[in-house]
Amino acid sequence: MTPEEFRQAGYQLIDWIADYRARLAALPVMSPVAPGEVRAQLPPAPPEQPEPFAGILHDLDTIIVPGVSHWQHPSFFGYFPANSELASVLGDYISTGLGIIGLSWQSSPALSEVEEVVTDWMRQMVGLSEAWSGVIQDTASTSTLLALLCARERATDYSLARGGLQAEPRPLVVYTSPHSHSSVEKAALLAGFGRVNVRTIATDASYAMRADALVEAIAADRAAGVQPCAIVATTGTTATTALDPIDAIGEIAQREGLWLHVDAAMAGSAMILPECRWMWQGIERADSLVLNTHKWLGVAFDCSLYFVRDTQHLVRVMSTNPSYLQTAVDDQVKNLRDWGIPLGRRFRALKLWCLIREQGVAGLQARLRRDIANAQWFAAQVRATPGWRVLAPVPLQTICIRHEPAGLAGAALDAHTQAWAERANRSGSVYLTPAKLDGQWMVRISIGALPTERAHVEALWTLLQQVVQA
Ligand SMILES: Cc1ncc(COP(=O)(O)O)c(C=O)c1O
Repeated sequence: MTPEEFRQAGYQLIDWIADYRARLAALPVMSPVAPGEVRAQLPPAPPEQPEPFAGILHDLDTIIVPGVSHWQHPSFFGYFPANSELASVLGDYISTGLGIIGLSWQSSPALSEVEEVVTDWMRQMVGLSEAWSGVIQDTASTSTLLALLCARERATDYSLARGGLQAEPRPLVVYTSPHSHSSVEKAALLAGFGRVNVRTIATDASYAMRADALVEAIAADRAAGVQPCAIVATTGTTATTALDPIDAIGEIAQREGLWLHVDAAMAGSAMILPECRWMWQGIERADSLVLNTHKWLGVAFDCSLYFVRDTQHLVRVMSTNPSYLQTAVDDQVKNLRDWGIPLGRRFRALKLWCLIREQGVAGLQARLRRDIANAQWFAAQVRATPGWRVLAPVPLQTICIRHEPAGLAGAALDAHTQAWAERANRSGSVYLTPAKLDGQWMVRISIGALPTERAHVEALWTLLQQVVQA
């Protein structure tokens, strides 16, 4: 494709995306396709001859759009928001259009330095002290893996330079909550801790980790001769946005000499609101944290921010420094390949840079405040309506609800919950994700897609009251 051909197809594509966003509200939120339906419409073998780009645009309308669930839809209430502000989409285009990779500072100086600047903007926006430095990773799963690798190496005084974890005399233990994201257990397994060395600590009535139970578990492990290593606490758990008590947990971590990693993948965005910062009070006691700007904040997936206090330790764990990557300025710059796992680095910082500049901090704050107010409104309706229940505190934008008709319990109540959630999703008007809480199905209402206004939340509440009757 020549630059001139790109210009023509690109203009069409931009128009197509703008039209898609403009007409989105009229599309069924959850894709109605059956398994295999998309694949069946695609040729099983690649085209032998070049095809015009217009053919691809045609397939977008006829095959791709019907085959996706619309995360940017105003009535998307599933999972957590994965907001993709159009300013950030343009940032992604710039990154891809430049077609550069950061292998070292020298290979793309602006890539490293814009990333340094925008992660520091974010640090200031969420109220972290200057002791923290940020780096962009793909996802929270990767950030948490990095945290546990760093925890492991600190606890073993760099076992990787000797026989690795396999040569350690005592097993290392990680502590987390049963409500932490599955990526925490996965990271612990990948970092070599082993499932038997992952402790899930009891939680309280608000689904937050109990500091007293954590103390007991650490003491029991010390008595048993295994080595406590790291705690992963969550600010805003996936099912209910529960808030582990970071201050109390941080104090324990410091007293016991354990690494504290805070998973604020979702709730971290809310820390741009000073009135929300109590939710991670004590965060300065942590060693590392993750915050996904590709969730509520609005950066097009993927852009996960990993913040650490001890950058030298991170570099010591991650650095390899082969001769073909060394440059004359290495002692004056940050080589971000040493701040994570992959060598090659995309210019992801542009997505965040474009978002913050185009929206301004005030614009981002106003949207998040709108969503929190909408969640409070919705929770109030549910609480005030007989037969309905809000099952967990609502500090942010997710409301866990159940419709509990008299006489229904256990498996029958589960069947009712799953049936009405399915009816709501099949209606095409909304998208919800049910989940289990205390062993019983409930429905999460996650508010915060970019175009979701009060009217959409009101329409959701009207619809739910209908679908539970059917
Ligand atoms: C609290 C929390 N942590 C981690 C993750 C995993 O995020 P990622 O897809 O960026 O790995 C999620 C995903 O929703 C989450 O809610």
